[in-house]
Amino acid sequence: MNSEEADRIKAFYKSWEPTYDRGNPGFLKLLDERDARLKSLLSGLPVALARCRVLDLGCGYGSLLDLFHQQGVPADGLFGIDLLPNRIETARMRYPNFTFKEANAEDIDFPDKWFDIVTVFTVFSSILDRGMAENVARSIVRVLASGGIIVWYDMRYPNPWNRNIRPMTKHRIRELFPSFELQLKSLTLLPPLARHLGHRTDSIYPLLATVPILRSHYLGLLRSTM
Ligand SMILES: C[S@@+](CC[C@H](N)C(=O)[O-])C[C@H]1O[C@@H](n2cnc3c(N)ncnc32)[C@H](O)[C@@H]1O
Repeated sequence: MNSEEADRIKAFYKSWEPTYDRGNPGFLKLLDERDARLKSLLSGLPVALARCRVLDLGCGYGSLLDLFHQQGVPADGLFGIDLLPNRIETARMRYPNFTFKEANAEDIDFPDKWFDIVTVFTVFSSILDRGMAENVARSIVRVLASGGIIVWYDMRYPNPWNRNIRPMTKHRIRELFPSFELQLKSLTLLPPLARHLGHRTDSIYPLLATVPILRSHYLGLLRSTM
């Protein structure tokens, strides 16, 4: 386990809470767009969500698990882990029927092959240390059932204003998950641009989002080829 990197991540998030985004029309739009694409992906999965066990790794405040609940995963099948105690505490208060653990994902105490779906949303871009990223990837592969699916959302571009973020390109994702097929599409209008659209968000966001180079993230599935 890499405690130095864990301490760095904790210190970074202690000083950085994106409160400015709440209520910003462009930011809300990009979340709506992402969630709509995610729901469409989930509806096409060859698994019954009502019988799935889902782990959200790096779950933050837990809201992604709520989306899975709304799509049919029972509360007792929803698990979240995160390094940050304050986020886990808030997640527990918001969603008392789901299971949350404060843990470093390098070493998680769930049984092998226990989850049908593991979600990782903007987690690997937060991890700068290669060793930690490899350990977290190994944890995911270990707890994922045969035929299980990773649902991925993360940024593909560097953030010039934030040196605590690394871009997750397809090349980098393949290095971490060599035995998985990537089914990823670019999504999300560059957030600094989206945030400036103001009252014109509804008309302009969809136009700009058609330009591939302006899409900052990948969303999609990683499927095991073994
Ligand atoms: C950018 S936030 C994303 C939170 C949430 N997934 C979301 O999309 O809102 C990244 C999260 O990953 C967590 N994280 C990073 N490295 C981790 C690790 N090794 N173990 C557990 N959580 C980790 C951080 O604590 C943080 O809450």
